Amino acid sequence: MSVLVGLDVGTGGARAVALAESGEIVAEASSAYPLHSPRPGWTEQNPADWWEGATEVLEKVATETGERVAGIGLTGQMHGSVFLDASDRVIRPALLWNDQRTHRQCEQITGAVGEERLISIAGNPALTGFQAPKIVWLRDEEPDNFGRISHVLLPKDYVRLQLTGEYATDASDAAGTLLLDMQARDWSGEILDALEIPQGWMPEVYEGPESTGVLREGVAEELGLPPGIPVAAGGGDNAAAAVGTGIVGPGLVNSSVGTSGVLFAHASDFTPDPSGRLHAFCHAVPGAYHLMGVTLSAGGSLSWWREALGGDYDELVEAASGVRPGSEGLVFLPYLSGERTPHLDPKARGAFFGLTARHGAEHMTRAVMEGVIFSLRDSLEIMYGLGVPVEDVRATGGGARSDLWLQLQADIYGTPIHRTVADEGPAFGAALLAGVASDTYADVEEATSVVRLREGITEPDPERTKIYEEHYEVYCSLYPATSSAMSRLTDLAAGSTGE
Ligand code: XUL
Repeated sequence: MSVLVGLDVGTGGARAVALAESGEIVAEASSAYPLHSPRPGWTEQNPADWWEGATEVLEKVATETGERVAGIGLTGQMHGSVFLDASDRVIRPALLWNDQRTHRQCEQITGAVGEERLISIAGNPALTGFQAPKIVWLRDEEPDNFGRISHVLLPKDYVRLQLTGEYATDASDAAGTLLLDMQARDWSGEILDALEIPQGWMPEVYEGPESTGVLREGVAEELGLPPGIPVAAGGGDNAAAAVGTGIVGPGLVNSSVGTSGVLFAHASDFTPDPSGRLHAFCHAVPGAYHLMGVTLSAGGSLSWWREALGGDYDELVEAASGVRPGSEGLVFLPYLSGERTPHLDPKARGAFFGLTARHGAEHMTRAVMEGVIFSLRDSLEIMYGLGVPVEDVRATGGGARSDLWLQLQADIYGTPIHRTVADEGPAFGAALLAGVASDTYADVEEATSVVRLREGITEPDPERTKIYEEHYEVYCSLYPATSSAMSRLTDLAAGSTGE
């Protein structure tokens, strides 16, 4: 019986999952690596740490599955920029998806290509997290480093280079660069030319289930895996997670609470949001697309709060479960790293609003979690406004593994929430894509036939949904009322740290 391995190069660490053809998990391993923030709003990681994490988890999985592995699929955090020189040496630490330093470069890109043209070719406006502004930033701010570039890769594709020796990516992750022609599913000559970025720097674009090359002999030996097995293109973490939860047809929506929060809807055609608030990207399913809204600090907000408070995560959430919906008049804005959907504002900032002397840590924890789901509700509202069908919402990520997160999603969205039996996130979807690349399955449809839904469905409670409707109205009123103060505080903070 052959085994399929999915490797997720995440923000917090690497994760490998091995599954049998039936979809049953037979081995898994995780490892953590650091995230660096050298200045406010900057986030960076060392690609060497990704590779070390990847080898650690692949080796662990290989000790249990070894020779039976038929293929590997890759997934990972999207948008990051790995700058390589002509000898494939990393030029500087990679800038990540939640890095906000490229505000000025986004304006330059919009000026050079034109806002409408960007949306019609690349599906999105220029946003600070995307890869293209990071390349332009390097030219503006570190011209010596820029002068050494020979290739630019996305995070998981740096790991692919080590595994296979190939410069390759997949259409879903490539879409997050802002350099892809979404209809052609290949690099846009028009955008690359306008930004003076040589096409030769960019990797070859494949569809998610295609093989991008095979596992190199030396690496295979080191990892304990068979040499020559195909490495599937895979997908950005959200597209791969969607494959893993079977979001491969109209009406299906994924609600993911990880470090970031994502509401992801399958789309059969390229139908960008004209306002650019929802991202329009390629899916990891050949020829398909998706629309998604992103909350930059979702589980990240709760991690921040737990770290600030000290204490145990489970105990905090347990205490928050006992607080009444609405946290006794306390609302949290989760804009700790600026925000994408719906505000597209790198200078947005977080806030607790409505604090009184009655509020304790348990109210604040609940408010943090409610605020994160209010933010994802913003994405759902935009989807409804665009006429996107929403028939079956499936939870994934850390938010699928906690009763409170699940109930908040059901109550705040006002829809039932489903869960899949195997809730392994992006790595599971990447393994299914490896199954197609290795001819274990004929296509993505057959691969996702192994995805099973759990029997228990989290239903919304009408009373709580009503309470949340009113709190959501208050939530919606807070950003417009405070955004100029947020922007000013961001500038003052930059001044006080000497930038
Ligand atoms: C999506 C996004 C995040 C990252 C991190 O646009 O920025 O979801 O992929 O996981």
